[in-house]
Amino acid sequence: MSKTILITGGAGFIGSHVVRLFVNKYPDYKIVNLDKLTYAGNLENLSDIDNKENYQFVKGDITDSKFVESVFQKYQFDGVIHLAAESHVDRSILNPMEFINTNIIGTVNLLNATRNIWKENTKDKLFYNISTDEVYGALGSEGFFTEETRYDPKSPYSASKASADHLVRAYFNTYKLPVVISNCSNNYGPNQFPEKLIPLAVNNIKNNKPLPIYGKGENIRDWLYVEDHAKAIDLIFHKGKLGNTYNIGGNNEWTNIDLIHKLCEIMDDRLNKPSGTSAKLITFVKDRAGHDLRYAIDSSKLQKELGWKHSVNFEKRFEQTVDWYLNSQKWLDNINSGEYEKYYEKQYVKR
Ligand code: NAD
Ligand code: DAU
Repeated sequence: MSKTILITGGAGFIGSHVVRLFVNKYPDYKIVNLDKLTYAGNLENLSDIDNKENYQFVKGDITDSKFVESVFQKYQFDGVIHLAAESHVDRSILNPMEFINTNIIGTVNLLNATRNIWKENTKDKLFYNISTDEVYGALGSEGFFTEETRYDPKSPYSASKASADHLVRAYFNTYKLPVVISNCSNNYGPNQFPEKLIPLAVNNIKNNKPLPIYGKGENIRDWLYVEDHAKAIDLIFHKGKLGNTYNIGGNNEWTNIDLIHKLCEIMDDRLNKPSGTSAKLITFVKDRAGHDLRYAIDSSKLQKELGWKHSVNFEKRFEQTVDWYLNSQKWLDNINSGEYEKYYEKQYVKR
């Protein structure tokens, strides 16, 4: 094996696409997926590659420093791609401490363990932190987030991700740890946990349940197909400049209400319902506390310096995504379990 790479959070939504890409594209890399398997981690996401020779799953918690040290001592990683996180903004509002522990303490544990195995010997080594556009705060109707935009996180989730980014940069500056960071916009695609807007809406329409839209549905997100994000991660991991940050985005802004109307049209078609049936389920509910108005990413640095491009046909990708959820009833059934139902009740019913 030419390299041993640790991918944290590989059983989650984006992590599973990154693990698949690396395992299939780099047969000479050993890919170790370290994941706690929280409610969001699902090994079913990787059932197509889990018997590959260059893939290894390790169950464990990045907040446990002794455990993290032992894994690093055992595998002597050449690279780390860190995705493990508590990732849902609404959960961070209900329970911030989980986010502080996993997203901040967990990241520091990985940084420390990385320093301990690499010491001064950092040639061809890289610690890559996967971050979010939410660290930049919220935009008004104009402008874009660039890599120079000042950090201004507004939710416990985004503040915990911003803290992690600051620590990663501090280890670069202080200890010369070779690092890179990318900040991506909203991802969509197969395998996203159905607490997030798109899979939640598909799931609810299928079950004839209300479609909860926060506030007036005027908030704007920049949607990127998850495999485009995985490809950007591959590019940045191999070609990114040490100490640099790269923004990744879809150049694809939608208000939540327009996106949900689009989804409703597709669902009416797929479920053979008269046009307008699914949209009747739209229900405006109390807004998310501190709800960021708009995110929009300027990814020109990544495009110009590393030659990255995103998929152009959003409509096609979006339809394929909806079809994936419609054809993955078993995957959804396995998720619509006790823990998720409890969260759903707390978030949407007991206001
Ligand atoms: P996800 O919630 O689907 O998956 C997170 C994974 O991390 C799960 O498999 C979970 O089991 C694991 N995990 C959580 N806590 C852990 C711990 N203490 N120890 C080990 N594993 C743990 O998240 P996602 O949407 O795939 O996001 C992945 C990363 O990308 C996160 O860092 C997130 O901040 C970032 N990101 C996400 C988006 C998006 O649109 N989803 C956009 C930009 C950046
Ligand atoms: O921008 C990147 C971020 O995108 C990632 O860092 C986060 O991990 C990821 O969860 C996502 O955050 P958002 O808060 O933007 O995603 P979410 O799917 O939760 O919500 C998308 C928009 O839809 C947001 O404006 C809130 C709104 N929404 C969401 C839910 C779950 C609703 O109106 N109703 C809902 O029920």
